[in-house]
Amino acid sequence: MPRVLTGITPSGTLHIGNYFGAMRPAIELQAGGDAFYFIADYHSMTALTDAGQRRAFTHGIALDWLACGLDPQKAVFWRQSDIPEVCELTWLIGSLTPMGLLERAHSYKDKTAKGIEANFGLFAYPVLMAADILLFDTNVVPVGKDQKQHLEMTRDIAIKFNLAYGETFVIPEERISESVAVIPGLDGQKMSKSYGNTIEIFGDEKVLRKKIMGIVMDSRTPQEPKPDADKNLAIQLLKLFAPADVATDFEHRLRAGGLGYGDLKKALFAHYWDYFAPYRAKRAELAANPDYVEQVLRDGAARARAVAEQTLARARKNCGLR
Ligand code: TRP
Repeated sequence: MPRVLTGITPSGTLHIGNYFGAMRPAIELQAGGDAFYFIADYHSMTALTDAGQRRAFTHGIALDWLACGLDPQKAVFWRQSDIPEVCELTWLIGSLTPMGLLERAHSYKDKTAKGIEANFGLFAYPVLMAADILLFDTNVVPVGKDQKQHLEMTRDIAIKFNLAYGETFVIPEERISESVAVIPGLDGQKMSKSYGNTIEIFGDEKVLRKKIMGIVMDSRTPQEPKPDADKNLAIQLLKLFAPADVATDFEHRLRAGGLGYGDLKKALFAHYWDYFAPYRAKRAELAANPDYVEQVLRDGAARARAVAEQTLARARKNCGLR
């Protein structure tokens, strides 16, 4: 059975683009039986220097995933920094990672191009990510398109290491979620925190209602037929949350004329809010139980560590370390 692994950086609040693009597919995969998911708190360190915030984001992400259906009996779920072996492996593989490879990394190039001062951590980010993947004998890594280059680098590094020191690492395959449509944000662009156009999975009802009712539409009157109804942003979002027949019915009514944008957005908000209602309840229950959540992460770390220790021992031995 292929081992599936992915990491989630705790850098803020999750939105529905994260949910439909990454969380839901990952949670569906856990039924397969060999899913390894972790909260990449070491990775958050290149950008965030507030300890309290890191702690809060990390706990928040744990709540989000568990609330949305991650089952710690099925998937192994842990906090990256509970397994410091990953840092040692970063050194072993980083020592044969070419500078040129790291200099070509988009994550690093984009930030320096924006004038953000690079630190060693940002430069080494892809090596730490490769260590995450290689440490657990990963076969498949489901990630978004933005992580494609990191996956290619991981494969390059693993191949190089195996050539230098003998067969040590499983060469992972990427699984880029092309099939999952890009989720449009409130302004119609791809939903992304950096565009400020997100709909949070869990947030304040008033704030979210306001965000959704604030989606800008065109100035056509309600009566006018709208032959482009399928392109309407509220219709596209409604399709994510409402049963198919309900969403299609709204689309037909918009196309025919007679449905006002205000009523459409009201329906969108109602379906969005209902969709996450059970998860919201679960999240509140978990939030009241921080000790349980902490225990889940520690149990996950213990299971993940058993694999990590073996891989690291193999890598150390093959390199000529004790
Ligand atoms: N860099 C990834 C992101 O920002 C998160 C991540 C860290 C990751 N380690 C990983 C993803 C290992 C997949 C596998 O989304």
